[in-house]
Amino acid sequence: MRTVVLREITRDNFHACIRLRVAEHQVDNVADNVYSLAQAKVNPRLVPLAIYDGSVFGREEQPDEKLVGFLMYQVMDGVGFITRLMIGAEHQQKGYGRAAMVELLRRLKMMPEIEFIGTSVTKENDYVEKFYRGLGFVDAEKVDEREVYLKLDWAPSAV
Ligand SMILES: CC(C)(COP(=O)(O)OP(=O)(O)OC[C@H]1O[C@@H](n2cnc3c(N)ncnc32)[C@H](O)[C@@H]1OP(=O)(O)O)[C@@H](O)C(=O)NCCC(=O)NCCS
Repeated sequence: MRTVVLREITRDNFHACIRLRVAEHQVDNVADNVYSLAQAKVNPRLVPLAIYDGSVFGREEQPDEKLVGFLMYQVMDGVGFITRLMIGAEHQQKGYGRAAMVELLRRLKMMPEIEFIGTSVTKENDYVEKFYRGLGFVDAEKVDEREVYLKLDWAPSAV
């Protein structure tokens, strides 16, 4: 099974992170990483993380090619909300997106302040909705014209 390591964005991996690109047909579905990092700079609740292939585990910072994607979440009012997830086009469909979410969900479930884990997906983005449903997300109560809101089928008392 694919494994990943989530690391902070630092001066060392910043450039590699903002160079990551999704495929041409996906550009409208996720903001550029540089935009997300700018948002995180002005909103300290946002947590941006770089997604590395699991083979970097336990080593010093390694070359750029091990950096495969980017995610961002925020914790507010008891909600852990996944605001961004992208895997570089050349690294997609190799299990990295799923592995990154498994690791992020593991982390979020351990935060005592979180009662609810959610995300949203643009309505045309069927395969991403399926991707999240495959991880245990179900419809959330919130309804929106453009976005499908999803919540993890989980309660804080569950393991
Ligand atoms: C969504 C995204 C993160 C998935 O990452 P990934 O590493 O390619 O996904 P994985 O390889 O872990 O695949 C997980 C599942 O999704 C499916 N999947 C992934 N990409 C797919 C695609 N383009 N079309 C159809 N299914 C796809 C896989 O087949 C797999 O299904 P399975 O669990 O039934 O085998 C990636 O496609 C991406 O970066 N998309 C553009 C940005 C975006 O839309 N982000 C979400 C909104 S913020």
